[in-house]
Amino acid sequence: MSDAPGQRADGSPPVALILFGATGDLTRRKLIPAIYSLYVQGLLPDRFRVVAVARSERSDEAYRKEAFDAVKSHATAVPVSVAAWDTFASNLRYVQSSLTSAEDLDGLSRCLADIRADLGTAPSCLFYFATPPGSFAPLAELLAASGIVRRPEQLAAEAGVWHRVIIEKPFGRDLSSARELNARLRAVLDESQIYRIDHYLGKETVQNILVLRFANRLFELLWNHLYVDHVQITVAETLGLEGRGRYFDHSGILRDMIQNHLLQILTLVAMEPPASLDADSIRDEKVKVLRSIRLPMPHEIVRAQYGAGRIGADDVPAYADEDGIAPESRTDTYTAMRLYVDNWRWAGVPFYVRAGKRLARRLTQVVIELRPVPDILFSRLAHCELAPNRITLRIQPNEGVEITMGAKEPGAGIHVAPVRLRFTYESEFGKAIPDAYERLLLNAIAGDASLFARDDEVDAAWAIVTPLIELWDASEQKPATYAAGSWGPPEADALIAASDRRWCNDTGS
Ligand code: BG6
Repeated sequence: MSDAPGQRADGSPPVALILFGATGDLTRRKLIPAIYSLYVQGLLPDRFRVVAVARSERSDEAYRKEAFDAVKSHATAVPVSVAAWDTFASNLRYVQSSLTSAEDLDGLSRCLADIRADLGTAPSCLFYFATPPGSFAPLAELLAASGIVRRPEQLAAEAGVWHRVIIEKPFGRDLSSARELNARLRAVLDESQIYRIDHYLGKETVQNILVLRFANRLFELLWNHLYVDHVQITVAETLGLEGRGRYFDHSGILRDMIQNHLLQILTLVAMEPPASLDADSIRDEKVKVLRSIRLPMPHEIVRAQYGAGRIGADDVPAYADEDGIAPESRTDTYTAMRLYVDNWRWAGVPFYVRAGKRLARRLTQVVIELRPVPDILFSRLAHCELAPNRITLRIQPNEGVEITMGAKEPGAGIHVAPVRLRFTYESEFGKAIPDAYERLLLNAIAGDASLFARDDEVDAAWAIVTPLIELWDASEQKPATYAAGSWGPPEADALIAASDRRWCNDTGS
């Protein structure tokens, strides 16, 4: 983790950001707005260029106009000033390429040569693969073969210049395809050049998990099987498919959210203190957690699909009736599981995890529920139902931390009432939380890979999820169902209720 990636890299070599998939949704909604927001905050290197690459024909001007619209709709740095935009846009170029053969790269090579001539020096290059997953390996191979992306030893003559590649998700479909992708990337790139993105790691509140745990005396003493009853991790969305039906139906929630975002959160919650904050020390500890996870038994997994229902004021169709989804699809839009991290710290502590689409509220949070106090004093009094202490790490929305505890209600006698200690980012720091992609782009420019997944980490996460997918694919089982706008299927409530616990759906609002 770099300590000050927020500082402008004055005097450092110029940087070119090359965005592949430049007309796609991710570039429009996230990447261009994030780059612009970094620019207006003065966080990009003084000399930078953005090269947008996509298949369709467009002039620089036409692309800049589209990018301006995207920034107005999605940038965190608002209002967008026309003067700032004009200066930013003068650094933005568009290159048409279908990226399938060496000749297709001529335009990009020429553009990079122009940039080099214009700057009077070679820029460092951050290549962002916001393209369909099938293109990741062939594109890396093509760029390497044409000398556009070079390994560190090939750049040795150009002092301070680096080439890095950000790979979007999904990184593989299962363990073997992820391994194959890793092998192909590693054949043309050094591991230090590969930045595998999981945008949850760019969220402030996800990074705060490490700070909360290791910058405070308060929590770490409790953070183990002696005091923790169980852990819950929820990644709930109200969103449905958002036009991504074809992708999602081949993916399902296990691949889309659990293999990456949810397991990344789990590793940060469960890991041991790293030797330092450098990328490899943190990732070493995360890998150990993943390797300690015991695969759930079939009765410890609930897979479900949403039926028709209501989200807010809108009636929404069942998954099977969504565009592009076959009526007999068995794809899960919700999965809940009980996992165990079989190590010294967490022995016997269940981790209940769930992720789903079209749920009642958007909510990503971790709840650490502590064991109850001995049943001796207050619980014997009338009106005294002692609630367990909970530490809630609210990732989004209402970003913050909450501790639930018992306090004496004023008045005669003793009545213990549950109360909350709450910290929210909004009230404490009073400024908008930057988008995760801003932080991730900045860290990749700074060469800090701590917020990106290493090859063995991706491998270990797939090693957990792949057997579950295979088991499901081999079965004839139908997913359970839940109404869109609910908190999931009754089977998931039964999973946690079997040990006398229940899901915490408190969103903190
Ligand atoms: C993406 C998934 O990785 O994360 C999407 O592919 C999901 O299906 C999204 O909607 C959620 O991200 P966020 O930041 O909105 O919670």
